[in-house]
Amino acid sequence: MRMHRKSRLDERLAACADILTVADLSEKNMQKAALVKQNLDFSALFERVNPVRLEIGCGKGKFICELAQRERDFNFIAVEKIGNVLIEACEAAKQLGLKNVHFINCAAEVLPKYLPDDSVEVIYLNFSNPLPKLGYAKQRLTHPKFLEEYKQFLKRGGKIIQKTDDKDFYLFSLQSYRECGYAVKEVCEDVSALNDPENIVTEHEKRFSDMGKKIYRVVAERL
Ligand SMILES: C[S@@+](CC[C@H](N)C(=O)[O-])C[C@H]1O[C@@H](n2cnc3c(N)ncnc32)[C@H](O)[C@@H]1O
Repeated sequence: MRMHRKSRLDERLAACADILTVADLSEKNMQKAALVKQNLDFSALFERVNPVRLEIGCGKGKFICELAQRERDFNFIAVEKIGNVLIEACEAAKQLGLKNVHFINCAAEVLPKYLPDDSVEVIYLNFSNPLPKLGYAKQRLTHPKFLEEYKQFLKRGGKIIQKTDDKDFYLFSLQSYRECGYAVKEVCEDVSALNDPENIVTEHEKRFSDMGKKIYRVVAERL
């Protein structure tokens, strides 16, 4: 289903320019675009130099805004390819006055363009699209193609923390991590049952938990 474009979207994105980088979308070949480095200067973006954590596919930003409020001693980059969705995340962060979050409106494929090498210590993948149809596997954010790409900016010893409600995607991801030399450090096959106060429930997580679906979590380390 096609989403209705929000009114005044460009104007609203422009009003968030201090916390938002909008990718140059003129280059259609994303792999090629990623090669032309335009590294973000973290010390200029954030008031304090702190370790950087990244969420890819942040949607409307509930997770990243809650995490940034809890963890003031970390800086966060949140990436979302759909501006129509991302605007809600940016406006929420602005409303909360968060100084430790910066957003990028781009596809994950282009991230090496913006993120300096070895600059990220954690990547969060919350309810990434499982894309079960044949022929779409390469677009899954835990496909080996992406896990190799992440090695450019994810530090050695850095972690990917993934949650999903989709068992096949969970199993596919476990295999991908192992294939690409990431060590699977933790798995949980029913996050809701843990009643973990540290767990931040995302928009999609709430919807799926309310439907009684199991939530899977994996922590994989870049060796
Ligand atoms: C199912 S939603 C989950 C949103 C949110 N993380 C949550 O848990 O509620 C997946 C989000 O990832 C974004 N996304 C999918 N593929 C992406 C890509 N290659 N690069 C950046 N964002 C992507 C989608 O636009 C969508 O907003």
